[in-house]
This record gives sequence, C-alpha cells and structure tokens, in this order.
Amino acid sequence: MGKAQGTDISAVVEEMAAAGFGNLEETILQCADCALREGATNPVIMKGSRTPRVLFIGEAPGKTEDMTGIPFSGRAGKKLDEMIGYMGLSAEDYAVINAVKCRPPKNRKPLKSEIELCRPFLLAQIRMLDPEVIILLGNTAEEAFCRNKKLEWGVPKVSGGMNIVKIYHPAAMIYQRSRIEEQKALIDKNRHLWE
Ligand code: URA
Repeated sequence: MGKAQGTDISAVVEEMAAAGFGNLEETILQCADCALREGATNPVIMKGSRTPRVLFIGEAPGKTEDMTGIPFSGRAGKKLDEMIGYMGLSAEDYAVINAVKCRPPKNRKPLKSEIELCRPFLLAQIRMLDPEVIILLGNTAEEAFCRNKKLEWGVPKVSGGMNIVKIYHPAAMIYQRSRIEEQKALIDKNRHLWE
C-alpha cells in the first residue's frame, strides 16, 4: 500500500491504523517515497509499550539508530532514559517514535518534504498507540505533529483528546548542559499530566 499522496490523509491514516502494527511496520519497511530510504540501513519504527499513556516523538534516527533499527538507542537515547527516569515513568507507561523513520544524511534536519511524506506513518502510529499525553521532543517533532501551530516550551495544549506538550530534544542536554535544569523545570511543571 502506498501512502496515496494527494488523497485524503485521514482516510490513509485510518486504513493504516486499522491494518495493525505488523502491517504498518511492513508498509514503513517497504516505503521508498523519499530519498532517505536509499541512504538508510534500517527504517526506525518504535520502541516501548503498545498501550502507552505517554508517547515521546523525536526527530529522526541518528547513526546508532540506523544501525540498530531502535529509536533513541545512541547517545541521545541515554539522555532520554535519564529524562524518563526523572519523570517517574515505568516501561509499560511509554513508547518512543520519531517524526521521520529513515536517517537523514550526516544527521541533518529532515526537510519539510521528508517530514510531510512520513507524516501519515506518524499519525497512524499515534492513532494506534492512542496515548493520553504526547511529548514532542523539540521543534521538528512539533513541526511534524502540529504543522503550522506553534506551541510554547512546556505549555501543554489539548488536541484530539490528548495533552500535547513540547520540551527540549534530549540531544540538547548533551550540547548545552544548562538545558538540563531548564528541562527538569518543564517536566516538573507538567507532571500532573502523567502522574
Ligand atoms: N534523535 C532523534 O530524534 N531520534 C532518535 O531516534 C535518535 C536521536
């Protein structure tokens, strides 16, 4: 099944979601809608619970993720794990996905066109995982999820019955250590959403 560009995206998303996790995985593995697939070793689909209360959305796979096929399995993943520990979530509480499933060359930011082509997969995953809270990890996740809408850092909004909140991407904790305390403050402000 292609992603039927130009047709009603919600119908495509519903169809993919109804077909189940195995089918969605197969569709993503077979996708060649943009040039990223050519340069990627493995499309990176998800990790974590299939019935999460909290869904984290990152940007795109990096080098380690491209090799392992597992989101946030490299350096940024260690920071994400620390964050999740600070949030007090257990393994069954959360899942992790990316806005874009294939690694962009040299870890560049995904192009708008790449985000757009991957968006039906993102929306189908959200539909299937049906979380109570979506945590957007940085601006690319926001761009993919909200398109033109702009969120303030750490200020939650309700959309489609879910609480949506944008916090810093875990990689920011690696390169800007001052962000660690800021991130903790954003998390503390939003604890009521998942506790
Ligand atoms: N950065 C992301 O946004 N996603 C990953 O899976 C790894 C690093």
